[in-house]
Amino acid sequence: MFSYLIHNVILLLSLNIFSAVRASPCVAMDIDFNLLVFGLDGKDYNAGPQNSWTSSTPATDISTSGRPPFDGSTTSCYLSQFDNAIYALSADSSKPTAVYIYDATAKSWSTQSVDNSVGFDPSNFVAILDHDTDVFYALSKGELFSLDMKDLKSAQSSSLPWNDVGKTGFSTANYEPVMALAQNHIHFLDVSGLSAGQAFIFVIHFSFFQPTAQSYPSQSGSDFPLQHGQTASFFQKQGVQQEFAFIPDDGSTTYVVNVETNSTQALPGPATKDPNARYFAGITSLVQLDSQGNVAFLPYTQGDVSANSKATWSKVTSLPTGKTTGGIAGSPNGTSTSVSGTGTPKNSGSTTGAASQATGSGANGSSSGAMGRATSVSIAVVLGMAVVVALL
Ligand SMILES: *[C@@H]1O[C@H](CO)[C@@H](O)[C@H](O)[C@H]1NC(C)=O
Ligand SMILES: *[C@@H]1O[C@H](CO)[C@@H](O)[C@H](O)[C@H]1NC(C)=O
Ligand SMILES: *[C@@H]1O[C@H](CO)[C@@H](O)[C@H](O)[C@H]1NC(C)=O
Repeated sequence: MFSYLIHNVILLLSLNIFSAVRASPCVAMDIDFNLLVFGLDGKDYNAGPQNSWTSSTPATDISTSGRPPFDGSTTSCYLSQFDNAIYALSADSSKPTAVYIYDATAKSWSTQSVDNSVGFDPSNFVAILDHDTDVFYALSKGELFSLDMKDLKSAQSSSLPWNDVGKTGFSTANYEPVMALAQNHIHFLDVSGLSAGQAFIFVIHFSFFQPTAQSYPSQSGSDFPLQHGQTASFFQKQGVQQEFAFIPDDGSTTYVVNVETNSTQALPGPATKDPNARYFAGITSLVQLDSQGNVAFLPYTQGDVSANSKATWSKVTSLPTGKTTGGIAGSPNGTSTSVSGTGTPKNSGSTTGAASQATGSGANGSSSGAMGRATSVSIAVVLGMAVVVALL
């Protein structure tokens, strides 16, 4: 009996491991810096401007037709500031290369088809959206690709192509990309050979890798470490970004790099230390979406040193909290309907990987995906057990 049970658990486990699909919510803002969270427990929310994030008034459910399922492996969202459009990459596992466009003015979705004959891997990349040109640059497996979004607010009928820009100007062996945008320059952090506080730079307008690293020393002496992490570029009311946040995977510190003054400020790390969290910065805040679907923010204003040095992270209370952010889809028939349903049990206290790869996995997805996989397995075990118990 026991071995029969074990056999079934193992069978269910193996079925679930191979059919598990990660859910990937993402966070962004519109041009009025209303906070938008997409794919949170299957819904999209507008939490309004920053002064309402800590209110008890619930965020507005903006889920509407044409939205992607947010079940991709590396979902990430970007604000096209000139267009008040949000572009979602890898938001639909059934259309992995499509770009979903949310027109934040019209509050409507459309799906832009993409010609991927160049062979960009939509399951393994990190990307930035250039502010002025509206062109994506993505690093995937050591190759830099670009995709011109042409200031679209809604999809055009013909597809847009990913283009191969070429190799990076530095070695990408075992490199898990850390990319940040400021001043039309892409900053590559945590590259082998750099020192703490340094970045390699790709100059977008000249399609040129600067041959030497740029240093961004910290005033306080704690330079940002050579560590994998996440980034978010702070917007300006208009014009290009001048600063970006870098949050290393250990979550110990929030570094804000200013590419005008070539300097870095060290601010408190987020309360939730989560290497699978994802970030978005407006003009006056840095927002964290953690892999449990919780959202928090750090007020931050460029140049306001005294306010920034006192700032602390707070929860966004107007959004649903502690929600699992997705489900395990695509389970084979005949095992369990609870497994093939649309959501994990709310009380499971876990997620199916959630935002684990929201802005891209690493060089081969192994390190940042590990948590997602492990969590999926544990859910599969729990569900598998439940099924076995139900069958007895
Ligand atoms: C893939 O990840 C593993 C484990 O982190 C690492 O040992 C390996 O070098 C990586 N391969 C590539 C091509 O990055
Ligand atoms: C920042 O560094 C760049 C490149 O080294 C240099 O051209 C620029 O003058 C520096 N800016 C400041 C304010 O020091
Ligand atoms: C699972 O069930 C659905 C609905 O009954 C059916 O459309 C689908 O073909 C089934 N899939 C498999 C793999 O049997």
